[in-house]
Amino acid sequence: MPAYAYFKKNLVPFSQANLSVMTHAFHYGTAVFEGIRGNWNKEEHQVYLFRVQEHYQRLLNNAKLLRFNVPYTAEELTRITIELAQKEDLKEDQYVRPIIYTASEALWVRLHQVEVEVAIFIIPWGPYLDPDKGARCCISSWRRPDDTQVPPGAKITGFYVNSALARTDAFHKGFDESIIETRDGFISEGSGENVFILRRNQLITPPVYDSILMGITRDCVIQIARNEMGLETVERHFRRGELLTADECFLTGTAAHLTSVVEVDNYRIGDGSVGKVTRQLQKLYFDAIYGRSPKYKHWCTPVRSGLGAEVKVNKGR
Ligand SMILES: Cc1ncc(COP(=O)(O)O)c(C=O)c1O
Repeated sequence: MPAYAYFKKNLVPFSQANLSVMTHAFHYGTAVFEGIRGNWNKEEHQVYLFRVQEHYQRLLNNAKLLRFNVPYTAEELTRITIELAQKEDLKEDQYVRPIIYTASEALWVRLHQVEVEVAIFIIPWGPYLDPDKGARCCISSWRRPDDTQVPPGAKITGFYVNSALARTDAFHKGFDESIIETRDGFISEGSGENVFILRRNQLITPPVYDSILMGITRDCVIQIARNEMGLETVERHFRRGELLTADECFLTGTAAHLTSVVEVDNYRIGDGSVGKVTRQLQKLYFDAIYGRSPKYKHWCTPVRSGLGAEVKVNKGR
């Protein structure tokens, strides 16, 4: 359990961060959330929050979509998170969970005339999938709803029922993760990750209109592949056939990092082991998120003062 939480505009002991059973968001899934990594750099004795302001900017944009009136800027939320992380003082990889939710004790389905609150807490969290071994995936029998139903990229809690169904589908079939298709049968994304395939030395990933969340990790990988390996990413539709016959495939996400997909529905991807390009990208990506890469240091916001580190909010860009 965390020791502290940001709750109802204050940093409080975690045991005081409790909600009523009548809380509006609990009934209707009317909340938006984020997942932000704090990565522990052992050598520097430092925690680096990764692209924290961009996560908060995305959260505020998503809150706007739900017509939430949120009296915070991304910079203010970043400062609160730094303070919370300093108080928790975890010396390991960690995960920040901010959530903006309809807090009124009222039972009408609506987004107007409801109070909105922000809560943030931090937990220790290692890898979500195994980046060394790679993941065995299935194609989910559940399809991804599209933007005409609920905006799929808005990290709305209610929408995650689709991800939960898909992930549990994978579990019951003996796989690590599900890859979900759009209603038209294009590959969309994993239950909590974006998908890339490599075909003939070109990276391909589904575009925004294939019901994906525009991942921050996805963006990092596109930039790193281009800058460090001269590898361009094409954002275009692709179907299951191209996925099953790809040279390599991997998932990206704040929780999952960059994890190879070695098998889909019992088809081996490539030779069924972690691909060469995936390995190279993994190394570059891990160097970036742990603050070991000077070129990408602007993505990392230090939490701990001392040891010469100035704690300031990096805009990320
Ligand atoms: C459905 C879904 N797709 C993709 C991602 C990856 O996004 P990011 O790299 O910003 O964590 C996430 C994780 O937040 C997700 O929940």
